[in-house]
Amino acid sequence: MKENNNFSSLEIGVVGLGLMGTSILVSLLVSGHKVIGIAPLPADMDGAMDRIESQLNHAAEAGLLKEAVSHYLGRLHLSEDYNKLKHCRLVQECVTEVISIKTEVYKKINKHTAASTIIATNTSAIPISELQENVKFPSQFIGIHWAEPAYMTRFLEVTKGALTDEKTAEWVLSLSYSWKKEPTYLKKDIRGFVTNRMLYAVYREMFAILENGEASMEDIDKAFRYDAGSWITYMGLFKRMDQLGLSDFKEIFDNLFKELDNSSTVPPTMQEIVIQKGKGINNGKGFYNYTKKEAAAWEEAFKSFNHEIFQLAAQYPELNQ
Ligand SMILES: NC(=O)c1ccc[n+]([C@@H]2O[C@H](COP(=O)([O-])OP(=O)(O)OC[C@H]3O[C@@H](n4cnc5c(N)ncnc54)[C@H](O)[C@@H]3O)[C@@H](O)[C@H]2O)c1
Repeated sequence: MKENNNFSSLEIGVVGLGLMGTSILVSLLVSGHKVIGIAPLPADMDGAMDRIESQLNHAAEAGLLKEAVSHYLGRLHLSEDYNKLKHCRLVQECVTEVISIKTEVYKKINKHTAASTIIATNTSAIPISELQENVKFPSQFIGIHWAEPAYMTRFLEVTKGALTDEKTAEWVLSLSYSWKKEPTYLKKDIRGFVTNRMLYAVYREMFAILENGEASMEDIDKAFRYDAGSWITYMGLFKRMDQLGLSDFKEIFDNLFKELDNSSTVPPTMQEIVIQKGKGINNGKGFYNYTKKEAAAWEEAFKSFNHEIFQLAAQYPELNQ
């Protein structure tokens, strides 16, 4: 099949209309695609359209839309019928993080799509090579991992499974630039992929500092926010080291690495939160407590923060790419 580089003319499917599915679908609409959204459970239809419209309005307020919201809604078709995916070049799966549920969904997608259709999963943590065992055309299967809100973040993690064709990955990477993403390409699906793997090393250390009584939760949060937070949208860690001049790092690695936590069990503070059924701002009980009003204000403020940081990052493009 001759490849079409006019990417926006491609029809793309999204299976799962939950938190991430709707947000991804909005990103694809904003990039000009016709989008088929599949509700794997009938309940998904409840409120999906309202959520999509509200996200499109959010994108409009941020100046991301070239056309009126109604234009994008006109290019969207929501259905419970997988057969509607038959013309899709790419289908993004976005259902619950359970292998058996994802496997059932792949069977249904495979039944109604062409052999050339690429199936992508938004899994946060399941190895791509493992999910790939359950699809009909493994060479066409890949990880495309988005961040929320998908239409207002540059992040995209593209992960190749053991059986994914290199050409599939190359095509997805080119496509993702047309979505105005800054994709990272992970050639081998190590557990946790790139960002989560790095961040979980930080999580482990912050629990160790807390549980050893060395600093409070509030101070650990402050340290991360006001140190990393002052440069992290501008540059990654290798560039940060270059900027600092590199010379001290060798000695610090030498002295500090051997002192960092390397435990492999769930931190007791985390276990306690799970026992208490804490769900953070979703039920007001987390590492901190929140009233309903505080949780709503937190969400609202984060929406506007997302918008501003998205625009700010755009003012500082990569220097040597
Ligand atoms: N929430 C995030 O910030 C985030 C970020 C990156 C990746 N992810 C990943 O995206 C995927 C979806 O996460 P989400 O946050 O949108 O979840 P969600 O709970 O908002 O949506 C879950 C979706 O799964 C579907 N589903 C549930 N049970 C099903 C079943 N038995 N059969 C078929 N479909 C079923 C639901 O209908 C819904 O569409 C997960 O793999 C998650 O790890 C989430």
